[in-house]
Amino acid sequence: MNSKKKLIAGNWKMNGGLAANEALLKALVAGLENAACDVVVAVPAPYLAQVQALTAGSVVALAAQDVSQHEAGAYTGETSAAMLKDFGVRFALVGHSERRQYHGETDAVVAEKAQRALAAGITPIVCIGETLQERDAGQTEAVVKRQLAAVIHLNGHCISEVVVAYEPVWAIGTGRTASPEQAQAVHAVLRAQLSAASEKADRIRLLYGGSMNASNAAQLLAQPDIDGGLVGGASLKAPDFLQIIAAAR
Ligand code: PGA
Repeated sequence: MNSKKKLIAGNWKMNGGLAANEALLKALVAGLENAACDVVVAVPAPYLAQVQALTAGSVVALAAQDVSQHEAGAYTGETSAAMLKDFGVRFALVGHSERRQYHGETDAVVAEKAQRALAAGITPIVCIGETLQERDAGQTEAVVKRQLAAVIHLNGHCISEVVVAYEPVWAIGTGRTASPEQAQAVHAVLRAQLSAASEKADRIRLLYGGSMNASNAAQLLAQPDIDGGLVGGASLKAPDFLQIIAAAR
């Protein structure tokens, strides 16, 4: 068991708009006075400035949903870590399964992105997780270990500077959550792998993601190696997200 603060991160994905963001964040900030955990929102890039202003002075930290693996230059459509930093971004999702699946991001690309984020002083939230096919084929452990191994030794950085999110692909957006036991079993494997790589493994926050909601969060967050959550759909509704945050003590 470790005593670090839990972290709840909302992943808005490609949802929102100026008016909706404002309503959501006002409700969130107003409901957050006594949060016992760290709270993060990962928002679409065009809204970074808006969300930075709306969360200023609150406990809500700003995250990007992705970051370029390149430093700067002729990479049309990309956003660099330095640009994110300009808007007060503290965290960046890296290697979300939707990026791996629809944008062909490999373990090597994910590692480069994590490295870029760290170099700019942004904490990468590295997402890993197996597909249903991989789970059914008994490959869960091998897949998540391979994905984690890719980011475990980043040049000049310690893995303890990273947040890891285990998100079984079959649980994302499907309403089919991993049971607390299934999630804990994978988290224990990841913790052991981290412990073998770093003396500071205990400090690393391991989040669970995949259909986490107001009714299942408490049980998931009670598992010894689950240090927080990466929440998609339920982070778009302030009352639900606040309930999940309240469950993270
Ligand atoms: P979900 O998404 O909570 O809607 O399943 C989680 C994620 O993809 O980060």
